[in-house]
Amino acid sequence: MTDVRLDHRLVIVSNRLPVALRRDAQGRWEAEPGSGGLVTALAPVLRNRGGLWIGWPGVAQTEDMNLDGSLREAVRGSGFAFKPVPLTEVEVAGYYYGFANEILWPLFHDLQTRCNFDPGYWEVYRRVNRKFAKIVAAAIRDDDHIWVHDYHLMLVGNELHRLAIRQKIGYFLHIPFPPPDLFLKLPWRYEILNALLAYDIVGLQTHRDKRNFVQCVRSMRKDVAVRGKGRVVSAWVDHREVRIGNFPISIDFEEFSRKAGSFEVNRRVAEIRSDLGSDGRRQMLLLGVDRLDYTKGIPERLMALADALERFPDLRGRISLMQIVVPSRVNIPKYQDLKLDIERKVSEINGKYTRTDWLPIRYIFHSIDRTELVALYRSADIALITPLKDGMNLVAKEYCATHIDNDGVLILSEFAGAADQLHAHPLLVNPYDVREVAETINTACHMPPEEKRRRMKALRRIVRKSDIYWWVDAFLGTVFSHDLEAFSRIDEEVPHMAFPPRTGPHRPPL
Ligand code: F6P
Repeated sequence: MTDVRLDHRLVIVSNRLPVALRRDAQGRWEAEPGSGGLVTALAPVLRNRGGLWIGWPGVAQTEDMNLDGSLREAVRGSGFAFKPVPLTEVEVAGYYYGFANEILWPLFHDLQTRCNFDPGYWEVYRRVNRKFAKIVAAAIRDDDHIWVHDYHLMLVGNELHRLAIRQKIGYFLHIPFPPPDLFLKLPWRYEILNALLAYDIVGLQTHRDKRNFVQCVRSMRKDVAVRGKGRVVSAWVDHREVRIGNFPISIDFEEFSRKAGSFEVNRRVAEIRSDLGSDGRRQMLLLGVDRLDYTKGIPERLMALADALERFPDLRGRISLMQIVVPSRVNIPKYQDLKLDIERKVSEINGKYTRTDWLPIRYIFHSIDRTELVALYRSADIALITPLKDGMNLVAKEYCATHIDNDGVLILSEFAGAADQLHAHPLLVNPYDVREVAETINTACHMPPEEKRRRMKALRRIVRKSDIYWWVDAFLGTVFSHDLEAFSRIDEEVPHMAFPPRTGPHRPPL
C-alpha cells in the first residue's frame, strides 16, 4: 500500500479557515483560532503534514480589510498555508446564514420545522460554491489531493469539473445525513444529490448516515447501481465509480492524553477538586461542553438535571454541573433566544436549589483555553453529552482521552454519531426523555469504581485505535488508493449495531 498520506500535498477546502478574523480594541483586524469540530479535528492533521487550507475567514469583507496581511501572523505559527475566500455581506447572508444555517443545518439534524426554504438562499449558495471552486482551481497543482468538507460546499466538486479539473476529489460531510423522508423535503434535492455524486468519494460519519445516503441515491436515481457491502460501497454513475463510506471522525488521542498528564493540568485538577470540597464530602462534578446550538440539547439537559435533583434528594449538595457554552452564530435571532432560554433555566434551577455551601450549576458563556478545558475534563466525574442529534461529537472522545486514570462516566445521547462507534460502553440516553436522563445521572453518581474503570478502559481503547490519523488514512486511502479492498477492511474495534443495547436504569434492552 503506498503512503497516500505523505506523497502528495493535501488541500483542505472548508467553509471556515482554522482562524477567524476579528477587530481588536484599536479597530485593527486580527486573527484568532477558530472553534468547532471540523477545525479541532483537521488542524493537527495539517500541522503534522503541511498543506494548504482554503476557506472563509469568518467575517464579511470590508474595504479596510487586508486579508493576506491579517492572516500572515496566523500562518506563521500554523505549519501550513492559508488561501482565504473573501465573501461579501450579501454572500454571507444568503449562503452561510441562509442556505447553510436555515435550511441544511436544521433539516440534516432532523429539525425540519426550523427550516426556512427561501429560494433566494439557493441562488447565493450556488454562486458562493462556484466562487470557492474558482479559487480552488487557481490554487491547486496537478498532483494535489483535494478534500472538500461539509454541508456548505456540496456543489464545489461539480463546479470544479465544469472548470475542467480532472483530478480526484474527496468530500466529507461532518453533520448527519437525513433519511429519505426528510431529504425529499428539500426543494433542491436533485441538484444536491447529483452534485454529491460528482465527487469521487462521499464520506459520512456513521453507518446510519451512509445507509440514509444510499437509500436517497436508490430512491432518487434509479439509473445508479449501488454495489458492495462493508465500510465502503460503490455507486456507478454513468460508468463512473463513486465510493461511499463511513469514517467516524476523531481526535488526536495521544495529544489529549499527554496533555491530561502534564504538570500544569495536574495542578489545575488539584485546585478544581479542592474547590469541590475535601475528600469524604467532595461534590461530584458533572460537565457539559457545547457550542451554542439548539441541536446540542442544552435546555433539555438542564431540565433533566432539575428532575434529578427533585426526585433524588440525596444528590442535592453532592453534584454540581459545570455547563460551558461556546458562543456561536450569535447574530442569528434563534441562537439569541436559545441563549436566553439556557440562562433562564440555569437561573431558575440555581434559584430553587442553591445553598450557602453549594451551587447546583456553574455556567460559562465563553471559550476556555486548552489547559483549562483538559483540566475540567479530567476533574469531571461525569460527562453529560446529550445532543438531540450530532454528526459525531468530539467532546465525548476528548473526555475519554483525558481520563488517563480510567475513571469518569460518559453519559451520551444515542443520537450523537459517537454512540454508533462507542457501542454500549457509555451510558446511552434518549435526550428527549428527561426522566431517563435524570435516572441515568443518578445511576452514574452511584456507579461502582470497578464498573467505571471497565467502561472507561473500553472507551479509551476504541478512541485510541480510531484516532484522527486513522481517520485521515482511512479516508484518503479510500479515495486515492487502488486497493479498495484493503481500506474497506479498516474497521473499528466494535461491530455496528443499529440500536446499541441500553444500560440505563429501568429500561429493558431494545
Ligand atoms: O461539522 C459541523 C460544523 O461545520 C463544525 O465545523 C462546526 O462545529 C460547526 O458545524 C459550524 O459552526 P459555524 O457555523 O460557527 O462554522
